[in-house]
Amino acid sequence: MNKKTRMGVFVSGSGSNLQALIDAKIPSVEIVVVVSNNPDAYAIERAKKNKIPVEVIDHRNYSSREDFEREIQKRLDQYKVDLIALAGFMRILTPLFIRNYKNRIMNLHPALLPSFPGTNAVKQALMYGVKFTGCTVHFVDEGVDTGPIILQAVVPIYDTDTEESLLERIHKEEHRIYPEAVRLFGEGKLRIEGRRVLVSE
Ligand code: GAR
Repeated sequence: MNKKTRMGVFVSGSGSNLQALIDAKIPSVEIVVVVSNNPDAYAIERAKKNKIPVEVIDHRNYSSREDFEREIQKRLDQYKVDLIALAGFMRILTPLFIRNYKNRIMNLHPALLPSFPGTNAVKQALMYGVKFTGCTVHFVDEGVDTGPIILQAVVPIYDTDTEESLLERIHKEEHRIYPEAVRLFGEGKLRIEGRRVLVSE
């Protein structure tokens, strides 16, 4: 097998998607570091339980986004990261950082992009009244949730749904498609043509 993809997973919260990536045991990809901007994120415990190095970089300790990102970059370089997976990472990255990892940062969003970008996507979909929502894995470009789409999954919205019940069903799909997208990357099966990400299985 070719060299494994060295992946860094960026988190801010619970880390259920980090867990899904760990549990998937993708042969072509190794999680070499978990980066958290939140020192209290439960995701940190998950990483430690699985003996994955953790770097906590609290954005509140930096006077600018650029300084914060310089520190992230410095730490990532130590791990020689090839791919970054944002998994509930609640900070916006600057164009400079994104350019350094062009087409090598993935994000997971809890809606069918381009619908409901930004924060509170689950609530936005519920309030809007759409009958289907879902989740999206995409490459990160310089906009907010605008990059080329890798995989999506559809989740129906029922009349009885609350934000919690809907989020639970979206999570189930996220835990399935995020590892799948990472595997495809690791196996070199993703090709970007303009806005389209083509999958060669
Ligand atoms: C996920 O549902 C992900 O789609 C969302 O944060 C959650 C993280 O959950 N991301 C965004 O809203 C990004 N705009 P987790 O910490 O349990 O993986």
